[in-house]
Amino acid sequence: MDWVEDFYSRTGRWWAEAESGLGDRDRGRVERLHRVCGSEPRRVLELGCGYGTTAAAFADAGHQVVAVELTDRADQAKAHLERLGPERLQIVRGDFYTATFAGRFDTVTYWNGFGIGSDADQRRLLRRIAEEWLEPDGTALVDVYNPLVWASWDGEVELLQANPERGYHHELQQHLTFDPVTATAVDTWWDTAEPERRITQRLRCYTPADLRLLLEGTGLALAGVLVGGEPVDLAADHTGDAAWLRDHYEYLAVLEPTSEGARAQDARRYSEE
Ligand SMILES: C[S@@+](CC[C@H](N)C(=O)[O-])C[C@H]1O[C@@H](n2cnc3c(N)ncnc32)[C@H](O)[C@@H]1O
Repeated sequence: MDWVEDFYSRTGRWWAEAESGLGDRDRGRVERLHRVCGSEPRRVLELGCGYGTTAAAFADAGHQVVAVELTDRADQAKAHLERLGPERLQIVRGDFYTATFAGRFDTVTYWNGFGIGSDADQRRLLRRIAEEWLEPDGTALVDVYNPLVWASWDGEVELLQANPERGYHHELQQHLTFDPVTATAVDTWWDTAEPERRITQRLRCYTPADLRLLLEGTGLALAGVLVGGEPVDLAADHTGDAAWLRDHYEYLAVLEPTSEGARAQDARRYSEE
């Protein structure tokens, strides 16, 4: 995972001016939480919060949010603190594999980021969610990359023109490939002014069936899935379903602690006392 800090810090500098304002995507995520859990105020832990726009939207909606971000994107996230105050929003710059937080949360979210590193890394994170962070009746909402759509983009090259009026100051090139053996999207970017300085993110993708296998033994289970904001009946036949095959590059997994997860929480609580 040695590419992570450099990739998100550098892309953060390319896009922060244009993308660090609160928008429809952030408000849509709040609606998704309300759809799944109801709209009563909750304690929310957001993992990998980037510029903090979604965390700010949750705080605006009355939730109490702690948001963690590895890179200097956290500096943009801190811009929301003055308006919202520390009771409603806390931004922690740190690594969610090692960070610790006071108390437990009704909801843990990870928007558009799950899949960095190996399956073992993913499991390590899921176990922390189950054992250390979630309340026993809590819910985790995790965006998961859909391998079918990322695979269909293999070989695509895109030139993104600069648009200084909208805050995009760099002309960028993107090259997408897909590793079908490991179900990993390989997403390479460079500034056309510096073609020798390329950066690549590698994103492990999981179908819902693969996610269920990944979750085994982590203390979390797949309670549901939303695609494009709409709940999906996972027990139905989805043969030929265009939404899954072509339209949605990620889906929202709704995860809940299993009884085994609750036992691990109890064991950890006693060892902390
Ligand atoms: C694809 S971005 C998505 C950002 C934000 N969630 C959003 O939807 O706009 C993934 C984010 O997760 C952060 N991240 C990745 N690994 C992390 C870690 N171990 N600890 C904290 N943040 C991490 C990255 O720095 C990056 O900002």
